Amino acid sequence: VTVPAGERTYFAGGALRLDGAALRDRIIDEIRARVAAAGDPPICLATVVDGDDPAGVRYVGMKHRAAARAGLRTRGSVVSVGTSQAEAEAVVDALVADSDVQGILVQLPLPLHLDGDRVIDRIDPAKDVDGLTSTNLGRLVRGTPGLVPATPLGVLRLLEAYGVALAGRRVTIVGRTPLVGLPLSLLLGGPQVAALVSVCRADDPELTARCREADVVISDASRPHLIGPERVSPGATVVDIGSSWPDGTLVGDVDTAAVATIAGALAPNPGGAGPMTVACLLENMMCAAGLAGAGTDGRTAGGAGA
Ligand code: GUN
Repeated sequence: VTVPAGERTYFAGGALRLDGAALRDRIIDEIRARVAAAGDPPICLATVVDGDDPAGVRYVGMKHRAAARAGLRTRGSVVSVGTSQAEAEAVVDALVADSDVQGILVQLPLPLHLDGDRVIDRIDPAKDVDGLTSTNLGRLVRGTPGLVPATPLGVLRLLEAYGVALAGRRVTIVGRTPLVGLPLSLLLGGPQVAALVSVCRADDPELTARCREADVVISDASRPHLIGPERVSPGATVVDIGSSWPDGTLVGDVDTAAVATIAGALAPNPGGAGPMTVACLLENMMCAAGLAGAGTDGRTAGGAGA
């Protein structure tokens, strides 16, 4: 899915808007059509979320609504401070055993007393539509077919849709979590995309230089306005993934208005990578359901590959 030139919009500062919400809507329409063409088979996404985490509950709600728009069914489970490790794992085990469920997503973070990695590794890799099991992360490292984590895949799809050049270009990723930064570095640095990737921390003493040397800056540090115009070279592409709520309202890692006067293209938060996470979760659902589209090569989804 690409965005035609006539449908591109620009920030007041001049940068091209990498509009994840618009692209998500196109992808949902395309998936809806594919599900209908297959005769509307029942395809179910099951989620597990910490019911006391307002952000997680909101994100999962968005995922359920998007799935419904795409013609998929959903089922939600909640864990809390009162849920034991064994109970949380039993929730996932029941979904794995249920042949009516094609995809399982465990929204992170789980309550602090739970070992999220162990809960996630209960997911059958074939139902792991967020691509976060050890098996699917391992496949991404090896470059063998697997389900790719939804947020990194969403960033790649967004950059591809707007024709942002990646092969041989310098990409600086700020933040190196197993959820976003690390798998994104594998996806973009692997042989299929072949970018020149650096991964660093928000408090890297050389952060400004590492960002200024980059053709593409991707920030997932959750530090409000960490990336200002002084950290962006003219014409570069900037993707904002980090979210903070210093006063109860969402603030991204990127000072959007100021950076839009320097950057060539900018994926804002909200409205950039977030909606693409949702879209790629649905793309992964189609792979898990055996309905991968023409644009996806089986289950590698543009991943590391040969
Ligand atoms: N928490 C924040 N972002 C994500 C995501 O993309 N997937 C999951 N499972 N948890 C998250």
